[in-house]
Amino acid sequence: MTDEIYKPGLEGVIAGDTDIAAVEQTSLSYRGYGIGDLATKTTFEEVAHLLLYGELPNSSQLSEFRSTLAQYRALPPELVQALRLIPTDVGMMDVLRTGVSMAGHFDPVKGDSADDLRRRSVWLMAVTGGVVSARHRLITNKEPLDPKPGLSHAAQILYQALGEDPDETATRLLDLTLILYAEHEYNASTFATRVVASTLSDMVSGIVTGIGTLKGPLHGGANEAAMNMLLQFDSPAAASAWIHEAFVKKHKVMGFGHRVYKNGDHRAFILEDELRTLAAKKDQMNWMEIYDAIKDPMVNEKKIFPNVDYPCGLTYYLLGLPVDMYTPLFVCSRVTGWCAHFIEQATNNRLIRPRSRYTGPAAREVTPIGQRS
Ligand code: CMC
Repeated sequence: MTDEIYKPGLEGVIAGDTDIAAVEQTSLSYRGYGIGDLATKTTFEEVAHLLLYGELPNSSQLSEFRSTLAQYRALPPELVQALRLIPTDVGMMDVLRTGVSMAGHFDPVKGDSADDLRRRSVWLMAVTGGVVSARHRLITNKEPLDPKPGLSHAAQILYQALGEDPDETATRLLDLTLILYAEHEYNASTFATRVVASTLSDMVSGIVTGIGTLKGPLHGGANEAAMNMLLQFDSPAAASAWIHEAFVKKHKVMGFGHRVYKNGDHRAFILEDELRTLAAKKDQMNWMEIYDAIKDPMVNEKKIFPNVDYPCGLTYYLLGLPVDMYTPLFVCSRVTGWCAHFIEQATNNRLIRPRSRYTGPAAREVTPIGQRS
């Protein structure tokens, strides 16, 4: 092959153009807006509109967006029935992958124009939130709840999962994490989704692929893995001993490191501030001491910084959310980024089909079966 360009893991390789997000060492922006600005001045629904339609909504566009989302919230009864049939020990990400695939057979949006795809994206936002909440109810021996009119997307997920009107802090912090998780250019799951779009396959297949890719602990699964790590420790001393042993054994520490960010993840800085306030408010500073007992040596001794999944795991934990919902909640957010990328790819498409470098045996001849040893 001539002009061979090869980087393991495609590290640093530009694999396409995008107008949706820019990830830089010193900044993260969605369609030109800095993540800090979005985190303090918008809601998740506004960010979803920005990602899908290219601009932040005005008030009437936002109400239309929210009413479209509300219109799609009730899950088809056949889908709820399918969720009941899945064994209760099946992981929530697997259930979500199946749930979205099943929902695809009841897709209320017909057509594949850019407008149809945007509308289908809003429907997929509703479906992912609905499946996560319904599944949580079913595995805790409760019946799924009907959506409650008037709630924000974050509040609706909490209400339908936990069965109570969420408090203002829980709603705001879930909303914030949904904003922070919504989009991150060509990360693994988004790239996988774009590959699906590039074959002219359908959007539901793209989102199912995104869910399967996000599940891995090197990607979205890290928020659960990070919290499960913290749950092993009953004191900062135990955490400190563990991390120093992990250094010796060269173990990966979940919720740390990033393919692009080498001096810290902007989303983690934003969320960690909120987490400290939350822990103080809930009188749970013991958890911050354990959190810091892992973080400080990682940063000071290894120069490896927390990514967004590290503060997110503990934030969700202090909000009382079950650990198996953390990565599915990431899906409820990132579905907007995936859909925006699917649309961008589908509306300006070239098949994504890279090459590989062959490293197998040299050319050889087939030995007839009777003569093989
Ligand atoms: N714990 C311990 N060492 C690490 C970590 C970590 N979390 N991350 C990187 N390193 C070390 C790594 O061992 C390597 O050391 P050496 O040069 O001595 O072999 C060096 O740092 C470079 O790491 P790398 O694995 O080559 O970096 P990468 O760009 O391939 O990996 C990563 C990025 C996210 C896969 C990796 O940092 C990692 O496995 N982190 C833990 C999983 C995680 O938190 N994932 C969430 C990613 S961000 C948000 C999301 O998508 O959800």
